[in-house]
Amino acid sequence: MVKIRKAVMKDAKAIHLIIKERTKDAMVLPRPLNSIFSHLRDFYVAESDDGQLVGCCALAISWDYLAEVRSLVVVPEARGTGLGVDLVNACIQEARELGVREVFALTNIDKFFAKMGFTETDKNILPQKIWADCINCPLFPDCDEIPMIIKL
Ligand SMILES: CC(C)(COP(=O)(O)OP(=O)(O)OC[C@H]1O[C@@H](n2cnc3c(N)ncnc32)[C@H](O)[C@@H]1OP(=O)(O)O)[C@@H](O)C(=O)NCCC(=O)NCCS
Repeated sequence: MVKIRKAVMKDAKAIHLIIKERTKDAMVLPRPLNSIFSHLRDFYVAESDDGQLVGCCALAISWDYLAEVRSLVVVPEARGTGLGVDLVNACIQEARELGVREVFALTNIDKFFAKMGFTETDKNILPQKIWADCINCPLFPDCDEIPMIIKL
């Protein structure tokens, strides 16, 4: 049995490792440990019975009524059981509670997000501020990420 819950302090280093492992195949953007600590309250984790973290996902508020789902990872051994969807749904539920109106993801697994009701959007409609962050990304300027958005 795996439960989805908000991250707490003891999870920070495990979240960092889970994300770091997936940056090797460029599926998620790297995040330094200090960024995990300073954004720890953004994170949900999937925890198995034995206390191991097997997934994570963050909801980051970006702008007026707008938030981003980022750093979504399920470890390979735990995939295909619905945890990815559960983690994104936990973020979307919190976004609703916060009064967020739209949630987006910059992703190369557009089919996964499409199954959850996201649709592809024009990146130019996202605030400039979001793309300003890209300059710090290792993929810049050859980014192949697709902007997907859902209205709540
Ligand atoms: C993407 C990821 C989080 C999915 O986790 P998961 O727990 O296996 O996903 P789920 O079991 O909830 O899958 C839900 C559905 O999405 C589909 N899906 C899963 N991974 C997918 C992928 N990479 N591409 C397209 N569809 C995918 C599943 O087939 C399933 O569809 P179904 O309900 O019709 O069977 C996981 O594969 C992962 O960590 N990948 C590497 C990191 C990554 O790509 N992160 C996203 C960055 S935006």
